[in-house]
Amino acid sequence: MTPTSLASTTTISTDNAIKNKVLIVGATGFLGSKILQQLKQNTQVSVRAMSRRGAPSSATHNIEWVRGDLMDPKSLDHALQGVDVVVSSANGYMKETIEADFAGNKNLIEAAARAGVKRFVFLSIVACDKAPAVPHFHAKKVAEDLIKATGMPYVLIRAPAFLDQSKDYVADGVKAGRFVAVGDKTTAWSYILSDDLAQYLAQAASYPSDEINYQTIDVGWRDGAKSQEQMVELISQFTRKKLSFWTIPWFIFKVLVKPVQLFSDLAYDLIQMFLFFKTGHFVANTQLQEKFFGTAPSAKEAVRKWALLNHIDLK
Ligand SMILES: NC(=O)c1ccc[n+]([C@@H]2O[C@H](COP(=O)([O-])OP(=O)(O)OC[C@H]3O[C@@H](n4cnc5c(N)ncnc54)[C@H](OP(=O)(O)O)[C@@H]3O)[C@@H](O)[C@H]2O)c1
Repeated sequence: MTPTSLASTTTISTDNAIKNKVLIVGATGFLGSKILQQLKQNTQVSVRAMSRRGAPSSATHNIEWVRGDLMDPKSLDHALQGVDVVVSSANGYMKETIEADFAGNKNLIEAAARAGVKRFVFLSIVACDKAPAVPHFHAKKVAEDLIKATGMPYVLIRAPAFLDQSKDYVADGVKAGRFVAVGDKTTAWSYILSDDLAQYLAQAASYPSDEINYQTIDVGWRDGAKSQEQMVELISQFTRKKLSFWTIPWFIFKVLVKPVQLFSDLAYDLIQMFLFFKTGHFVANTQLQEKFFGTAPSAKEAVRKWALLNHIDLK
């Protein structure tokens, strides 16, 4: 089936009477829970959230929770019953196993295609097609290709590096008066705030027209990639302190990458990722982001928001 022939059948309803049901896969995660919060506020859709444990203790009555495991296709068929749109930020490489990112995503994609969903919104990574040596980037590229091969309507949202993480090392460093740089001061790459990314994923899931289907959309800041030197300058504009700059040089990553592989898949993956950053290809093109989601934030706007969220003193 061609994208054009599918397009006529994939309109996402804006009629309150026939709300589209959106399944959020990864809804308990750092980012996933923010996608859930965003979609919960959207009266145009009804939300079902998936977790391997079912509803968390903090669950509120207005969200339907379903038990589902990426490694168990039957549980996915059950979770997808009556679902119009899937949005997935689930991953296993950070905290458990990368098998969730390869075999697990394959299971989810196949189950979504079997269920005939109208749109599959998948969180991918900027330039994942250029980084086969970075395991979790490669897993995203493999998933993107599997999604495309099914013929189902999709939106691939490709995110760059999060400025904030669940444990915000950058904010902790800034509060202690330092910025720890990876590799060098001058190589630029793209960043995003997780709140903004969650908003784009929610927008993609509820986007009212077919125009967004079959799009691969980089997201980031409208004034482009930033070097770590530029990041320190931006952060310093908002803080009262002058930051000391610590750099872990590239050769350390190069020396460590092989031995680290022997005892930590995650450390190997992250070192390979930093070495990929060094190539200068980890850069988001925000043209489609602005077309579908409105003006992208500038680096200055995002850093200010991040500083406020982290209670970093502002001038
Ligand atoms: N950090 C960055 O700089 C960066 C940059 C670009 C893109 N990303 C992407 O951003 C996303 C981060 O998401 P996050 O912060 O929400 O992750 P997270 O906090 O690590 O949460 C992981 C989520 O995945 C779910 N999950 C893991 N294994 C599963 C399985 N076998 N079956 C079902 N669900 C499973 C977990 O659900 P349960 O445990 O409840 O089952 C949980 O909701 C990832 O896709 C990552 O690749 C990150």
